[in-house]
Amino acid sequence: MQSLLLDIVKVTESAAIAALPWIGSGDKMAADGAGTNAMRASLNRLRMNGTVVIGEGEIDEAPMLFIGEKVGAGNGLEVDIAVDPIEGTNPTVNGQSNASAVIAVAPKGTLLHAPDMYMEKIAVGPKAKGKIDIEAPLLDNIQAVAKASGKDVRELTILIQDRPRHQEYIDIIRGCGAKVHLFNDGDVTYTAATCIENLNIDMFLGIGGAPEGVLGAVAVKGLGGEMQAKLLPFDEEEFNRCKKMGILHPTKPLRHEQLISSEDCIFAATGITDNLYLNGIKKESNQYVTHSILIYGIEQRVRYIESLYPEYEFAR
Ligand code: FBP
Repeated sequence: MQSLLLDIVKVTESAAIAALPWIGSGDKMAADGAGTNAMRASLNRLRMNGTVVIGEGEIDEAPMLFIGEKVGAGNGLEVDIAVDPIEGTNPTVNGQSNASAVIAVAPKGTLLHAPDMYMEKIAVGPKAKGKIDIEAPLLDNIQAVAKASGKDVRELTILIQDRPRHQEYIDIIRGCGAKVHLFNDGDVTYTAATCIENLNIDMFLGIGGAPEGVLGAVAVKGLGGEMQAKLLPFDEEEFNRCKKMGILHPTKPLRHEQLISSEDCIFAATGITDNLYLNGIKKESNQYVTHSILIYGIEQRVRYIESLYPEYEFAR
């Protein structure tokens, strides 16, 4: 896996560069299409036998790297791939913060094959690993995280996506004195943020996309934190889709090991628009400037990578 590290960053860099013309354009399909095509083309240049196990776009019928799609130039490792070429299509086309191109790669058979539906998630950094339980009342989790981090509950910062469905969580958190940091889109970025020490984030919580859940789980795994989740099939059809994908008990909690079972995993993201820890893609004179994060589970380390690409490399 280690030999793939830099190549994997190039995949998200290419998707972010492809998304640049669509920032602020209002055209979601075009943005998703550009990111997806760029990602597919760079994946197909890599020496690996990859299978997309988490694709994205089913819900809003965006163009997608579909589940089961084979990618890679062959002659290499057998890997599972989770992709979100544009995590945050709305912020991209509305010129708002928090959009990025995201990928996770892990040995074949180690990533959860999850359909595109909602998922309940909770994630914490290394200090609170082993202390959370998605089945427990939120207040118990908050207190456990405070104790594990050596903080008073009022010193905790908890990330939640700004959606009406999360109002009950927000009330509980504020009720006990902890701080809520709301964000509009891009929950992969915020799941990973729990494990980035200098950001001082104590917990990520809420209901979002299942594909984003698996991507976030790889970032958290790679940095020694913990994530738990629960699929939320909306109806019988979604329930049956889970079963078809091998999830025998679709409404049972998923432990971190079930989301990603190998430490030999890679997570990479490149900023499309600015977020908590990455600058968005920019074009300066005749070159593109990308900012990415790279996490490799065996190393348990964050790398921030700035790359410069001459414009002519991407001329059509
Ligand atoms: P996209 O990648 O489809 O643009 O999703 C952005 C996102 O904010 C995810 O990070 C999150 O999981 C999901 O939307 C939440 O869905 P909803 O917008 O329906 O609340």
